Amino acid sequence: DKGNHRHFMGKEIHEQPEVVGRTLSHYVDLAEGRVVLPEALPFDFGKLNRLYITACGTAYYAGLVARYWFEQIARLPVEIDVASEARYREAPLERDGLTLVISQSGETADTLASLRYAKSQGQHTLCVVNVPTSTIARESSVVMPTLAGPEIGVASTKAFACQLTVLLCLAIAAGRARGTLTAERERALIDALITVPGLMAEALKQEGEIEGLAREVARARDVLYLGRGTSYPMALEGALKLKEISYIHAEGYAAGELKHGPIALIDESVPVIVIAPHDGVFEKTVSNMQEVAARGGRIILIGDAKGAAEHGLDTLATLTMPDLDATVAPLVYALPIQLIAYHTAVFMGKDVDQPRNLAKSVTVE
Ligand code: F6R
Repeated sequence: DKGNHRHFMGKEIHEQPEVVGRTLSHYVDLAEGRVVLPEALPFDFGKLNRLYITACGTAYYAGLVARYWFEQIARLPVEIDVASEARYREAPLERDGLTLVISQSGETADTLASLRYAKSQGQHTLCVVNVPTSTIARESSVVMPTLAGPEIGVASTKAFACQLTVLLCLAIAAGRARGTLTAERERALIDALITVPGLMAEALKQEGEIEGLAREVARARDVLYLGRGTSYPMALEGALKLKEISYIHAEGYAAGELKHGPIALIDESVPVIVIAPHDGVFEKTVSNMQEVAARGGRIILIGDAKGAAEHGLDTLATLTMPDLDATVAPLVYALPIQLIAYHTAVFMGKDVDQPRNLAKSVTVE
């Protein structure tokens, strides 16, 4: 049932404040202000030398965001690869280490195969899945559910937001176990997490502006997405979302990679979507925006009021996100990213719920 939405994808984008709130209440003891995982762990985060993460597509990008969180919050080194490579690389995985797999459907063939490979190496396995009865859930030693509810649109939106929510809670739990997180920082992170559903609702208020912007994006042949830190995987996610439902060619890049090649593509016809909350790397991203502006590139900034006041550049549009703790930015910034792809594809008359050549669950490799 699409409710009063035209497409499942639109409905699922709008459900995010609610489903992220539900997922949070499953992982956070609100009265105590701490993360309480729904299941006991058969391993000790404090004893791990390394965390291996594997997944496909959007779930892989959630894993890339989580790499920053596990490394910064828990000082836990992370290795991550797409499951189609991880399953055949024959990487040496240490016995009693941990492999984390992420999957909405829990049936993705490559993700399942890399999970089985990890088990064959003697690793503990933990899955973040949306379908608790799935094969991946059944075969993992620990199941951490995302409570997104059924996701019908082929392009993943609310499952992604819930994956990020669970992954940040896991990183916080790991930080506590490893003694890398002060009680004060943990409290601040929980406070930030609790505000996310409200901030998401704020972000959705930009939809009218995004609808207008989509007409511009729809005219482009190529679109670049740039970001640094956790905004880098968000740039990859933005590009994937746009290409899969609008069929416009899009690429996501780490902003610092711009001058190593992609800058050659930039001219007046290329919208450059820059994802840049006012975080520790904001100034570095501004210098990349200057490089884009100097070549006539048209910048669409997804940022905040503080950043907008500082950068001093002409932009085609600025989508102003609410102020937040930069750690939770991916959760909130996901919404404008999804809405840009959605409205561009709708404006172009594409079938956003059933894009050509794609299946919701990829059970063959
Ligand atoms: C993109 C998308 C796909 C899936 C990928 C993994 O919007 O939906 O990239 O994320 O096929 O699927 P799951 O999460 O079911 O393993």
